[in-house]
Amino acid sequence: MMTTKELQEEILRLKKEKDICILVHAYQSHDIWEIADYVGDSYGLSEKAAQSPCKNVLMCGVRFMAETVKILSPEKRVLLSHPQADCPMARQLDVDMVKQLKERYPSHAVVAYVNTTAELKTVCDVCVTSSSAVSILKNMQEKKILFIPDCNLGGWAAEQVPEKEIQLVHGGCPTHAGITVKELEEAKRRHPNALVLVHPECQMEISQRADYVGSTTGIMDYAKKSEAQEFIIGTENSIVQHLQFACPRKQFYVLSKDCVCHNMKLTTLADVYHCVAGDGGEEIQLPGEVLEQAKKCLDRMLELGE
Ligand code: 13P
Ligand code: SF4
Repeated sequence: MMTTKELQEEILRLKKEKDICILVHAYQSHDIWEIADYVGDSYGLSEKAAQSPCKNVLMCGVRFMAETVKILSPEKRVLLSHPQADCPMARQLDVDMVKQLKERYPSHAVVAYVNTTAELKTVCDVCVTSSSAVSILKNMQEKKILFIPDCNLGGWAAEQVPEKEIQLVHGGCPTHAGITVKELEEAKRRHPNALVLVHPECQMEISQRADYVGSTTGIMDYAKKSEAQEFIIGTENSIVQHLQFACPRKQFYVLSKDCVCHNMKLTTLADVYHCVAGDGGEEIQLPGEVLEQAKKCLDRMLELGE
């Protein structure tokens, strides 16, 4: 039997030997965070994907994140940590549905949340992430915008950019959108001194009642810098554990015990080991025209998100 530490040491040895960069989304478990070259939110991961010096990249997260790495660095060999790790929101719209929406709103620029398939990005104008949506919407020249597929993130961002005309569609994250006002009230009753920090994928009625709304990195940075000692966290529950490691004297509580993303949780440390050993994960391969077309809206995201 190997201990967690021995397995981590073996992963670190293999990744160095094989020139593999390990990018880890914040929702992965702590034992995976500890062997990462970089941990962050979707925007930070996209920036690292465009810059990484390694020939091989292992993305521990969900499929659209690994596709984003491949699109931004097509010359690299990109592995997804678990072949079944997908984001259900990324498949809520397909190319035909977006084409129909474009016919209905012909003068609107199409802004796609990065949680979309590579194929869908080929028919969109700009991508955004939760941490960059407001600044990108502000920086875009177009006034009329069709925002897909998350109406909660889109609605929250639209409130902060009143100068734009933003059309939303019905879609969103089943994990975050399931959090209810009743759960929020119950959490506040239990922890009356705690600040409420939530992800913008939560329903608007939750975001409007929060003390802070932001990406996974945004939530973590806010909690670390805050003078407050107690926090109710309204995003995937792994963030509670990561914050507890980062700030052991502060207290963190889940907003909802059900805010668990089963796709993000599929990858284990043993999967990471198999990926670096060469007998696990899935290599991302995308057709040339998809790579080329989808790159435009990711490049525009990185330009406008500066
Ligand atoms: P972040 O960009 O905040 O990491 O969000 C990604 C995601 O999938 C949230 O559910
Ligand atoms: Fe997708 Fe929601 Fe999971 Fe994020 S938390 S990967 S948006 S299902």
